[in-house]
Amino acid sequence: MTEDLTRRGFLGAAGAAVVAGVAAEVAPAAEGKEAPKGGPIKIIGLSTSPRKGKTTAAALRVCLDAAKTAGPNIEVELIELAGTNIGVFDPGNPDAGAGDFKKVAAALTDPKVAGIVFGTPVYFGSMSSLCKAFLDRCIAIRKENFGLANKVAGVVAVGGMRNGGQELTIQTVQAALLAQEMILVGDGQPTAHRGATIWNSANDDISGDEVGLSTAKNLGRRVAEVALRVARA
Ligand SMILES: Cc1cc2nc3c(=O)[nH]c(=O)nc-3n(C[C@H](O)[C@H](O)[C@H](O)COP(=O)(O)O)c2cc1C
Repeated sequence: MTEDLTRRGFLGAAGAAVVAGVAAEVAPAAEGKEAPKGGPIKIIGLSTSPRKGKTTAAALRVCLDAAKTAGPNIEVELIELAGTNIGVFDPGNPDAGAGDFKKVAAALTDPKVAGIVFGTPVYFGSMSSLCKAFLDRCIAIRKENFGLANKVAGVVAVGGMRNGGQELTIQTVQAALLAQEMILVGDGQPTAHRGATIWNSANDDISGDEVGLSTAKNLGRRVAEVALRVARA
């Protein structure tokens, strides 16, 4: 098994020291990966639905449209993992089934990207298997240079039921993003909860879900607002 991607590799040098019973040093803060001060920032919406252009992508478009209204100089982009052939992550053979992972990872870690909205369909109360495969592969980003650190992250979950597990799903995605040192935000005021919770209420159409759409707008705006604050600090 590749040592770097075993538990020791995940924990990193500091974690390995703790395992060995030795006092761990505090890692230096991530630096040099933020958007240039005063320049434009980019917010990416990443759809992890295996179905291209369906409800998760539609929800992310709502988030991104709202993100654009948060201030000047905000660019947005929607990236869909559908069709990228990203497969289950095997730490013993990390390149197997990588598909377009490196390409997508490069887009997300670009210093100009100050915020990312992750979108997933709800599959049995959790994220899609494609979402999990992608997030597991992001251990490589963590190991290389924490290239997602200090980018702002929000999560949108789309389910076939009004209360089909959207909040649970959001929390499972957030757990992985915390391990990347991302700055997590929920949907902003006035809804202000875990993130965007969308109901695919009418045969792959979310346009009638007024409550859910308001959470998507508030999430997109909130991600952009905090990203601007971080970028301009
Ligand atoms: C395997 C599978 C499991 C699902 N489980 C749930 C669920 O637990 N709760 C829910 O509300 N919807 C569930 N759904 C419905 C999807 O979340 C819903 O259709 C969603 O809009 C799909 O997103 P997409 O249009 O981007 O593919 C499930 C769908 C599939 C295929």
